Amino acid sequence: VQREMSTLPRVYVTRQIPPEGLKILRESGQVQFELWDSDDAPVPRKELLQKVKGVDGLVCVLTEKIDAELLDAAGPNLKVLSTMSVGFDHLSLDELKKRGIRVGYTPDVLTDSVAELTVALLLTTSRRLVEATHEAKTGGWGTWRTLWLCGYELANSTVGILGLGRIGVAIAERLAPFKVKKFIYTDIAPRPELASIINAEYVSFDELAKQSDFLTVCCALTPETKEICNKDLFSKMKNTSIFINTSRGGVVNQEDLYEALSTGQIAGAGLDVTVPEPLPTNHPLFTLKNCVILPHIASASYTTRNAMSALAANNLLLGLRGEPMIKELKL
Ligand code: DGY
Repeated sequence: VQREMSTLPRVYVTRQIPPEGLKILRESGQVQFELWDSDDAPVPRKELLQKVKGVDGLVCVLTEKIDAELLDAAGPNLKVLSTMSVGFDHLSLDELKKRGIRVGYTPDVLTDSVAELTVALLLTTSRRLVEATHEAKTGGWGTWRTLWLCGYELANSTVGILGLGRIGVAIAERLAPFKVKKFIYTDIAPRPELASIINAEYVSFDELAKQSDFLTVCCALTPETKEICNKDLFSKMKNTSIFINTSRGGVVNQEDLYEALSTGQIAGAGLDVTVPEPLPTNHPLFTLKNCVILPHIASASYTTRNAMSALAANNLLLGLRGEPMIKELKL
């Protein structure tokens, strides 16, 4: 048994991923894997660099930076990387490509969960729910007042989507029944097929800023989108607009966002993602009543996280067998 085990491809899993994925790996009989057996803290970098030595496959989550240093530490056996995330900004794609390493990721299975949370965050921010519950339980609730805790409603509004993909479409589909007047979007180029699903109009970046009552960021973080939401964007937005980001914190210049929120340039912001994560509790954004900050939970439903785990495991196993993965990144 010992000898048989040792001939199986070696895999390192950088996190105690949800049970469905671990079960698939365990029951596959196709790999021997070692696990960083915790979900409370990421594997320390030094340990990771040790553990990946000589592995054939690697399963990671978004807290691991997969760069040249790590790939060198792993060495030439490494054939397949499978990340339990749709985002891939933690991966050095050039370095992976150079080494001929195939990459699996987990789009689609989290779309519903992320869209649902985005709607929740949008309404929480626009209708000031965090402020409201705080007031209710800390004595701020006096008489019923005519303009107290007023916010902005979706009915008759224009919703702008920055980066139209699967998630942007899913968000718009959920927002439409709130009687949104118009959906607009911008992207590198028009995406007519996706746009037609939600009847969205393609506009320039500037027009998106100017027209949106709600602006929701749904793009991937790439060198092109890094800090694309900055002073320039916020200064063109209406002072009644709500900014929502459930993509990656890196698309936002947080100093500029702080400025826009604290001066009333925009009405509010809801963020599920920040730089860094976790955002230090003494960060200025936490001092603002009109900023709702969540700890990166958009895909956090039991169903979705298990589906991501299972997809990551299946991508890995398929990749190691030399077969097409269910969801593989084109490098
Ligand atoms: C991802 O998958 O990239 C999310 O940020 C976490 O689900």
